[in-house]
Amino acid sequence: MVSRNKFIFLLVVAALLAILSLSLQFLHLIPSTPLKDERQSSKSRKRIIPILYTEPPGINPIYEAYAYCNIPNKTEHGVEGHSPPDFKLLSVQVVIRHGDRYPLYSIPKTNRPAIDCSLIPSRNPSHPQLATFIKHMSKPTKVNMDNVLSSLPRFPSHFVCEMGELTQTGIVQHLQNGQRLRHTYIEKHKLIPDNWNKQHLYVESTGKSRTLQSGLALLFGLLPEFDWQKVHFRHQWSTIFCASNCDCPMRNHYLEEEQRRQYNFRIKNNLLEQTYVDMARIIGIPTRQLRAANPIDSLLCHFCHNITFPCTQAGCIGLEHFTVIKSHQLDDEKDRQEKMVYYKYSLLAIHPLLNQTVTRMQKFAENQNNEVFALYSAHDVTIAPLLNALGLPEARFPRFAARIVFELWRGPRDKKRLYIRILYNGDDVTFHTTFCRKHNRHSGQPLCPLQNFVNFVKKDMFAIFNSTNYYDACHRRVF
Ligand SMILES: *[C@@H]1O[C@H](CO)[C@@H](O)[C@H](O)[C@H]1NC(C)=O
Ligand SMILES: *[C@@H]1O[C@H](CO)[C@@H](O)[C@H](O)[C@H]1NC(C)=O
Ligand SMILES: *[C@@H]1O[C@H](CO)[C@@H](O)[C@H](O)[C@H]1NC(C)=O
Ligand SMILES: *[C@@H]1O[C@H](CO)[C@@H](O)[C@H](O)[C@H]1NC(C)=O
Repeated sequence: MVSRNKFIFLLVVAALLAILSLSLQFLHLIPSTPLKDERQSSKSRKRIIPILYTEPPGINPIYEAYAYCNIPNKTEHGVEGHSPPDFKLLSVQVVIRHGDRYPLYSIPKTNRPAIDCSLIPSRNPSHPQLATFIKHMSKPTKVNMDNVLSSLPRFPSHFVCEMGELTQTGIVQHLQNGQRLRHTYIEKHKLIPDNWNKQHLYVESTGKSRTLQSGLALLFGLLPEFDWQKVHFRHQWSTIFCASNCDCPMRNHYLEEEQRRQYNFRIKNNLLEQTYVDMARIIGIPTRQLRAANPIDSLLCHFCHNITFPCTQAGCIGLEHFTVIKSHQLDDEKDRQEKMVYYKYSLLAIHPLLNQTVTRMQKFAENQNNEVFALYSAHDVTIAPLLNALGLPEARFPRFAARIVFELWRGPRDKKRLYIRILYNGDDVTFHTTFCRKHNRHSGQPLCPLQNFVNFVKKDMFAIFNSTNYYDACHRRVF
């Protein structure tokens, strides 16, 4: 009896805390009108999502969720290709996350979001190049692709999306990325010569249709109607692009430690636990089963596509559930930064990719290759550690169609002086990176010297492991 009373008491406290916390969040974070609609008439509710146009102070989970969706209906101005006068752009390497996709998980016992993954130029969001893109992708020409890639569809086509399939939104996002890069790199800087061939381009994608198709869309935006014979599409089996340098026991060690941190952080969040219980009750499945179905992945798809969250006879999943889970994700990212374990994982995970980036730049500078443009079509699990390893942990979690760009520049007088610029979603983040943070821009070198980046990748990034190289850092066990 005592323990039962105690249990009820705990439940009441939890509920009170939940209500208090929710109302605090909503009072501060969400305009009150849509919320009222939401609470009063969850049945008749059609549209629940308030659109925010300006960035409010503090971290707002709804605003962050919109940033993640990256709905392609505004013109964005990136500063790719900007430099002081007389600098010459030599080469560009781009790492992208695939565009908007259908969920990888579904919430049991609810309808999957109804989204059509076929491409229809007259349907929004669209792009002026969408119709020609479809035509070009349908051409039954022989393509230069590694085996795994050549068997994948070159554009999404299912009337009912398959799990993880790229959507029209995802294609449009990357057509826009490509078009933006074409304006600056090709029209302004003439980076790729008119008579370009296989030597000038390097393209690599993981073996998922969404990454291949995202890469194709970006490439088509960059080089409309490109000649299929002139591009070789390479397959990368590893989502961190570690290629033949993947053996790294300490990387796995830090990843496991990071997963423990994530678990411990999650179970401390009573409101989150309560929210899962409530959602599981609405859907009518055990909480554990709901958690395993990773509901935020599916709910984000509803959210990004303006589709009402699932309902059952027991009620509806609402914006309040979504907000709690999204807030937790944001808090988790903050905790992750403080604990440093993920940072260590990232350094080891991403070294091979950074090493490849540096090598390509050095070879280009020494006339040992002609690769003016390289594209890696990747995932959030590629971009997130890449940002961390560069020393940019505060950058936003990679949204759909996120892009990181590495530019190689040559200075005006001394031909040997090479420089690097790094951009994330069009913002110049060079001077936030670990290796350029301390560079004095007013010292006569307005850009960051390439050597800083080289030193970092070849040696300095292992200092935190008391090592000077990848092999050592990967194999030396620290306790
Ligand atoms: C969302 O859908 C509703 C109808 O369900 C529509 O009235 C509204 O304009 C849509 N909002 C956006 C941003 O597309
Ligand atoms: C972007 O979408 C929002 C919501 O649908 C709409 O109100 C706004 O006008 C759109 N912006 C542009 C530039 O089309
Ligand atoms: C780094 O790049 C060099 C030069 O291409 C290569 O020889 C080496 O194997 C690479 N190391 C790693 C760990 O990726
Ligand atoms: C590196 O060496 C220092 C000093 O010897 C030591 O305090 C630190 O714990 C070491 N770090 C690692 C990761 O081994």
